[in-house]
Amino acid sequence: MIEIRKFSKKDTTEVALLMVNVYKEFNREEATKSGWEDYLNTVHPDKVPFEKLYNKLNKAVAFVAIDRGKVIGIVRGTPERINSLFVNGKYQGKGIGKKLVGKFLDAAKKLGVKDVRVRSSVLAVPFYKAMGFKKTTGLRNPHGMKMYNMKRLL
Ligand SMILES: CC(C)(COP(=O)(O)OP(=O)(O)OC[C@H]1O[C@@H](n2cnc3c(N)ncnc32)[C@H](O)[C@@H]1OP(=O)(O)O)[C@@H](O)C(=O)NCCC(=O)NCCS
Repeated sequence: MIEIRKFSKKDTTEVALLMVNVYKEFNREEATKSGWEDYLNTVHPDKVPFEKLYNKLNKAVAFVAIDRGKVIGIVRGTPERINSLFVNGKYQGKGIGKKLVGKFLDAAKKLGVKDVRVRSSVLAVPFYKAMGFKKTTGLRNPHGMKMYNMKRLL
């Protein structure tokens, strides 16, 4: 049984490792070498002190997906923007990303947000389309990482 609950401080290291490992497995070829290194320098628990990492991850809206005590998914953002969405590869395609984004959108709506934006990885565009987002720009490459700006009205 997968549980979705709010992110808490004790999840910090596990969430950061999930972000690094899932990005490495699925999105690595979307980034330049320096883009990937910059990413590691901002989220890898070996490179960022714990309190700094916690403050970075602890956004206004942040939920984790848990299976048997283990973090297997994360969504976090401002709430006007999704900053990160990652699901462990073994758990992808089972509706967990959809549940996490659903929780994010519900929370954003309650906070009075009118539309939610995301910088989608190339890989995640079909996922976000299935979640009702539309591209607002062509392919961009900020920070050495390929992405599309997308938006969904609430
Ligand atoms: C993007 C990601 C979070 C999706 O999570 P997931 O748990 O596998 O997605 P779900 O199983 O909840 O899929 C939800 C819907 O999206 C669709 N979908 C997901 N990936 C898809 C793909 N590659 N192509 C087409 N449709 C896709 C599913 O079919 C499903 O549609 P449905 O509700 O109509 O059945 C996951 O693939 C991931 O972590 N990818 C790597 C990291 C990444 O790119 N994150 C985004 C950064 S912005």
